[in-house]
Amino acid sequence: MAKVAPSILSGDFSRMGEETERMERAGADMIHCDVMDGVFVPNLTFGPKMIADIRSHANIPLDVHLMIERPERYLDKFIDAGADRLSFHIEATAAAADNLAAIRRRGLKAGLAICPETPLERLYDLLDGCDFVIVMGVHPGFSGQKYIPETTARMKALRAEIIRRNLSVEIEMDGGANIENVAEIAAAGADTIVSGSCAFTSPEPEKVIAAFRCN
Ligand code: DX5
Ligand code: ZN
Repeated sequence: MAKVAPSILSGDFSRMGEETERMERAGADMIHCDVMDGVFVPNLTFGPKMIADIRSHANIPLDVHLMIERPERYLDKFIDAGADRLSFHIEATAAAADNLAAIRRRGLKAGLAICPETPLERLYDLLDGCDFVIVMGVHPGFSGQKYIPETTARMKALRAEIIRRNLSVEIEMDGGANIENVAEIAAAGADTIVSGSCAFTSPEPEKVIAAFRCN
């Protein structure tokens, strides 16, 4: 059974607390928070203060996904703000192993995110330091994009590598999940599925979350 992480990127930014509570009531396992710097991705969202403010409205973990250049500059700030799971992009730093270790030292789950066009093998040497890997199903930057079909094969390959090495790394799939493709995504090995537009635009998010989980 997959865990479901609604992405607040698709929420109403003027009412983040209520949006968080709405998703928690609908059955979310965690809240996915997309941090964008306008450099690593062509979009801007929010920083540590928003995480701290969301934290005070949430009883479930905050899954903070950093899409920022040189994330090492900000890890401690997001941890202090109340992140429970913290991930950054392998493409955005030359210090991935150090960053993963720094996140774990502070007691959080450490994640590495990978863009659709980046060869999966690039993260294989780093898997020992990861609690989870975010396999992007879209080019990062915006919600509401179409799922890139090759993502399914990438998750299967990653799952095979994790099993081969007997590691306990979880897979999170982020981007493009919907009611039609969620079974395929879960079958490919996703432990957690992010839902941005699908959960937030539905008048019945509890049904979307239940449908995502039951795969
Ligand atoms: C994209 C973000 C995703 C996004 C997912 O850059 O990292 O978390 O919010 O939204 P959907 O599910 O609509 O693709
Ligand atoms: Zn994300």
